[in-house]
Amino acid sequence: MSTETRQLDTTELEERVKSMYEEVAVEPERDFHFETGRALAERLGYPPEELDRIPAAAIDSFAGVGYFLDLAAIGQGDVVLDLGSGSGMDSFLAGLAAGDDGRVVGVDMTDAQLAKEKQLTREGAIATVEFDAGYIERPPVEDGSFDCVISNGVINLSPDKPAVFAAAARALRPGGRLALADIVSERQLPEGVTCDASLWAACIGGAMQTDGYREAIEAADFEIETWRENTQYSFVSERADNATQKYGVTSISLLARRA
Ligand SMILES: C[S@@+](CC[C@H](N)C(=O)[O-])C[C@H]1O[C@@H](n2cnc3c(N)ncnc32)[C@H](O)[C@@H]1O
Repeated sequence: MSTETRQLDTTELEERVKSMYEEVAVEPERDFHFETGRALAERLGYPPEELDRIPAAAIDSFAGVGYFLDLAAIGQGDVVLDLGSGSGMDSFLAGLAAGDDGRVVGVDMTDAQLAKEKQLTREGAIATVEFDAGYIERPPVEDGSFDCVISNGVINLSPDKPAVFAAAARALRPGGRLALADIVSERQLPEGVTCDASLWAACIGGAMQTDGYREAIEAADFEIETWRENTQYSFVSERADNATQKYGVTSISLLARRA
C-alpha cells in the first residue's frame, strides 16, 4: 500500500526539500520543475478577487498543485491547520474566510518559508494567522482543537504519508474536515523515480498510488466525500513531464471528514 521508500535516503530528501523550498521562498522568479506564483494560482481556480486581499509576496512563492478551498468551506470562527504552509497563501486565504473569531495555524519545516510568512504577518497581514516551525508528521498542536486541516502540494513530499493522515485526524475535532490538493499516481512508480530525492523534492517521486493513498486516509478514520482531478496542473521540466505521462502522475483535490 505504501509508496516504495526502501532505498530512499530520507535525510537527503529532507535537505533537498528544504533547499528547494528555500529557493521558492527567496527567489520565486527562478525556474523550477513546477510552476509558481499568481498565474498558476488563477489557473488552478483561486478567485482573483480573493488573491487581491492577501500579501502579493505570499502569492509569488505559491507552489501548490490545486484549488481545494471551495471543498474546505471554511466559515466564520473556524480554527484551521495548514500542513506545509509554505509562504502562507492558503493560510492567509483561510484566515480571511475564518474571520476575526477564527484562527489559522500554518506549520512548515523550511526556515526561509517561515521567515517569509512571519515577515508578512509583522507587516500587517491577517492577524489571526500564525506560523510555527514543525513537521507535518507530528505538528506541534493540541489534539482535537481544529475544525479543518488543509494542505496543498505537501503530503506527496512526506516519506510517511500514513503518519501525516493520522496527525491530521488527531488534530481535528470529531466531524472535522480534511481538505487538500496533492499529487498521486495511477501506476506504481519505479525505484529509479521513488529513490531519486530530487524528483521527490519536485513533487513527483513521492506520489503515492491512488488506491493506497485513499486507503491511508480511510485508515486514519476519515471518510472521503469528494475526490476530483485537477487537469489544469502540469509539471514544466521535460524529465518531470516524462514521469508524469508514463505513470499517470496527477494532481487531485479532496474533502474527507473525520469520524
Ligand atoms: C510544494 S510546497 C507547498 C507550499 C504551500 N502549501 C503552497 O501551496 O505554496 C511544500 C512545502 O511543504 C514543506 N514541507 C515539505 N515536507 C514537510 C514536512 N515533512 N514537514 C513540514 N513541512 C514540510 C516545504 O518546506 C514547503 O514549504
